[in-house]
Amino acid sequence: MSRPSPLTSRLAGFGTTIFAEMSALANRTGAVNLGQGFPDTDGPAEVLEAAVTALRAGHNQYPPGPGIPALREAIAAHQRRFHGIELDPDGEVLVTTGATEAIAAALLALCEPGHEVVTFEPYYDSYAAGIALAGATRRPVTLRPPDYAVDPDALAAAFSPRTRLVLLNSPHNPTGKVFTRAELELVAAQCRERDVLAVTDEVYEHLVYDGREHVPLATLPGMAERTLTISSAGKTFSLTGWKIGWACGPRELVSAVLTAKQFLTFTSGAPFQHAIAHALGLPDAYFDSFRAGMQARRDRLCAGLEAAGLDVFRPAGTYFVTTDIRPLGEDDGHAFCLSLPERAGVVAVPTVVFYDDKEVGRPLVRFAFCKREEVIDEGAARLARLRS
Ligand SMILES: Cc1ncc(COP(=O)(O)O)c(C=O)c1O
Repeated sequence: MSRPSPLTSRLAGFGTTIFAEMSALANRTGAVNLGQGFPDTDGPAEVLEAAVTALRAGHNQYPPGPGIPALREAIAAHQRRFHGIELDPDGEVLVTTGATEAIAAALLALCEPGHEVVTFEPYYDSYAAGIALAGATRRPVTLRPPDYAVDPDALAAAFSPRTRLVLLNSPHNPTGKVFTRAELELVAAQCRERDVLAVTDEVYEHLVYDGREHVPLATLPGMAERTLTISSAGKTFSLTGWKIGWACGPRELVSAVLTAKQFLTFTSGAPFQHAIAHALGLPDAYFDSFRAGMQARRDRLCAGLEAAGLDVFRPAGTYFVTTDIRPLGEDDGHAFCLSLPERAGVVAVPTVVFYDDKEVGRPLVRFAFCKREEVIDEGAARLARLRS
């Protein structure tokens, strides 16, 4: 006799994430994995050494709930150095288990059941789950290729008297879009007028290309006092398995998030906290060469995808590029990705899973370029088979 699923209705429909599904497909088929966004090279050697030193120095017990002071100070110094944001490391900075925990804790701490959260689709999958866990409702604003620009009318229409916060990701996964200052000003104006909070996910803050700038929403007029800024070390230092993230902003917001966070994990990653405190102080040369290397890989993969006959939407940031498969005579991105390992020996992710508006997302497919050059080249060579 089969029992009904024990899963709470709040989480119905949030089964295995598409990343796990596609990575399992890559492992099973031996395909080149251009699906999940994790780098296939290690982070900086001196940061790895700093973790080993911290382990050997006995930093292996619970760190303080808000994070070790050295890391909170390093995060505050990083925000000042790169963004001109001033923070008190005691109360305005909170260390979390990756950005994922910061996002979930923020939604749980700040939303009542019945509240609405304005976000942009396609959205990172943990947003929908976090909003659902909090008992809130998502109100997506649709971004469409080729440029994924914000439509001011659609943005205004997404707000209602029930809107509690805007959850904004820039640079944006999966599109690679970097919100312009003008677009952020539209968001800020809505937040100010309607007295709404903002939570920003800036995990790709150091991956912005072609001389463009990453503008934290918190730096816009009237936004510092209502914005919780979230980021993490995973992407910036190619250490996604360490799960050291943070949330910064006004004391009351950070304290609310800490209240939720302390019952999720309380704390984590003692030796890694020490190592990331070191990493955040690396010289500008590290951040510049990391960005330049990733920009070169973007160019390499975009060229390969174009040669394979896809319509390519060149990203301004992140490690992802989205494409439209219709020039290949197909229009179902999900079916395309399921068949791609067999047809071409490559794994990619169907962007439709990040859209509520399935029609917009249907023909779109995301590829990741945070891979070694030879892996990108091999993936591109295999994709070239699609043309024949
Ligand atoms: C937009 C976005 N936010 C958050 C995360 C997760 O960050 P972390 O690994 O620090 O939890 C990712 C990882 O892919 C991401 O793409």
